[in-house]
Amino acid sequence: MSYLAIARKYRPATFQEVVGQEHVTRTLKNAIESNRIHHAYLFCGTRGVGKTTIARALAKGLNCVEGPTAEPCGVCPSCQGVTLGNNPDLIEIDGASNNSVDDIRSLRETVGYAPNMGRYKVYLIDEVHMLSKAAFNALLKTLEAPPPHVIFLFATTEPDKIIDTILSRVQRFDFKRIPAEAVAKRLAEIAKNEGASVSEASLRAIARCGEGSMRDAQSLLDKVISFGGPGEITDAQVSETLGLIDRSLLHRMVEGLCTGNAAMCLDVIEQVYGYGYELTQFTTELLEILRHATFLRMAPEVHRHVDLSEDEVALLGELLRDVSPDVLTRQFTALLEVHEQIARSQRPRIVLDMAVARLTDIRPAAPVGQLIARLEALEGRLRKQGGGGGASGGGPSHSRRSSAPARRSPTTRRASGTSTKKPPAPAPAPPKAAPVPAPPRPPTDATEASLQESKNRPPEAQPTGIDALRLAFASLDGELASLREATLTQRPNDLLIELPGGRALAMAQQQLDNERLQAVIEAHMDAKQPVVLQAIRGTGTREETQQTDANDLLRDPAVRRIVTGLRAKILEVQDLADTPESNEP
Ligand SMILES: Nc1ncnc2c1ncn2[C@@H]1O[C@H](COP(=O)(O)OP(=O)(O)OP(=O)(O)O)[C@@H](O)[C@H]1O
Ligand SMILES: [Mg+2]
Ligand SMILES: [Zn+2]
Repeated sequence: MSYLAIARKYRPATFQEVVGQEHVTRTLKNAIESNRIHHAYLFCGTRGVGKTTIARALAKGLNCVEGPTAEPCGVCPSCQGVTLGNNPDLIEIDGASNNSVDDIRSLRETVGYAPNMGRYKVYLIDEVHMLSKAAFNALLKTLEAPPPHVIFLFATTEPDKIIDTILSRVQRFDFKRIPAEAVAKRLAEIAKNEGASVSEASLRAIARCGEGSMRDAQSLLDKVISFGGPGEITDAQVSETLGLIDRSLLHRMVEGLCTGNAAMCLDVIEQVYGYGYELTQFTTELLEILRHATFLRMAPEVHRHVDLSEDEVALLGELLRDVSPDVLTRQFTALLEVHEQIARSQRPRIVLDMAVARLTDIRPAAPVGQLIARLEALEGRLRKQGGGGGASGGGPSHSRRSSAPARRSPTTRRASGTSTKKPPAPAPAPPKAAPVPAPPRPPTDATEASLQESKNRPPEAQPTGIDALRLAFASLDGELASLREATLTQRPNDLLIELPGGRALAMAQQQLDNERLQAVIEAHMDAKQPVVLQAIRGTGTREETQQTDANDLLRDPAVRRIVTGLRAKILEVQDLADTPESNEP
């Protein structure tokens, strides 16, 4: 028997054998079985996905002596005729070469004749989009109301080129690209039947090269078997036939990238170069494998989008056990850039070599989410401490505005409420050891304080009585006299007390915990709130600087995200170099 190409030899004879187009075959099967066959079908889809195959199977089923049936016998004269291409009731027309209006006119003349042997005259017009406009128009009338024994089957790879008047007269099916896994499975059957032994990984590689086209994949398999077969065909032979990079080189490259082993990567590049592979081909395949690797490191439901053999999945799983998807995505992005540079470069090898330095240097970033989680844990601990030490021991309450322990920071102190333990005597405040401004603290302290405050802050702190408070301030005396000059401002989240920098400010600073002062404030404000004491602009030094520093810092989007995420505020900015005890993150 003469040699028949695999793609033709293994053309499915029935709907059941067709791979990956169930949405089409099921509908057609139902139509046949329920005797609801449309007079015109349009099959759209990319090359080699089964359009002609299904059209022929349909023609077979319609005219089989045992039909109409979705499962034609395959042996009756009608079925045999379709298989051999000499059934007079299946008229196959190549739209590309018979596209004139005259061609369609002569077709129209034959439409009226009854079928020769079967029930239907089936007209299969391939590449129907190639028909001229006049030809389309000549077809319209027949298509509108063909004789009951006529069925039109149109196939096209470019449905966009078909005019609407035709589209509205046909039942359309869109064929899908066939998933690589399904293609590989079919290739395995064929290879076995042809007495060739090809690994699963190689079959997958062939399927991937087919890009969803069964015909293309089968043609490649044909080529592989001609080159390496019959019998055992190695992965290297398959790679060579397909012009693919040897998988083991790709795996070693991934390993080198993920372990930061630049030497390993450079060795691989040297080999790739030595074999004479195109470097862009190498980066393309590397990008693909990084894509799969990333998905493998993600949730299990993502794994079905990984198109690799089981062996490769296991291998990569092992290689990447300690690599985060974040590292892989960043490597992917960097590599994509490299790939484009290589494509343009006169010296692609150098570009790729240099890229290794960059790629192997990619390390996991401390995610903001983790940082926030750490801060939240800290906050939780602080809250516990605060709750145990306070007089009321509970959360913030509106009827009883005390409980938060007093906290200090260079510019902010909470006006702590009256304590049940301490008699509310207007006694002078105990001498404060801390000078003004208070000694710097590591940034975490400031953050802790602000965290606490942001939580204790009443959700809706719109005060009343600020004017009354201003009056009360104006008549302060004794140790509080320094506050008489204060300018009071109710801000959304706190009460701002401003004084000229210097002595007045220093004295006021010492009075912030004064019970009498707190009583005055609480008497006029309907919710407890932090009190911020600061120098009037231009009169202070450190406070001013701090404010400016904080504003500068807030211009950084990352900082802004953390601060707003925590509903915190920056109380103090310190240069880490000044604080030896603060440890690097
Ligand atoms: N869905 C499929 N299932 C199994 N084999 C298929 C399928 N699609 C295509 N093939 C194989 O590919 C060959 C070509 O398929 P077919 O002629 O049906 O493609 P087509 O969609 O008509 O492509 P084209 O647009 O290039 O004409 C078939 O002989 C068959 O071996
Ligand atoms: Mg076809
Ligand atoms: Zn038959």
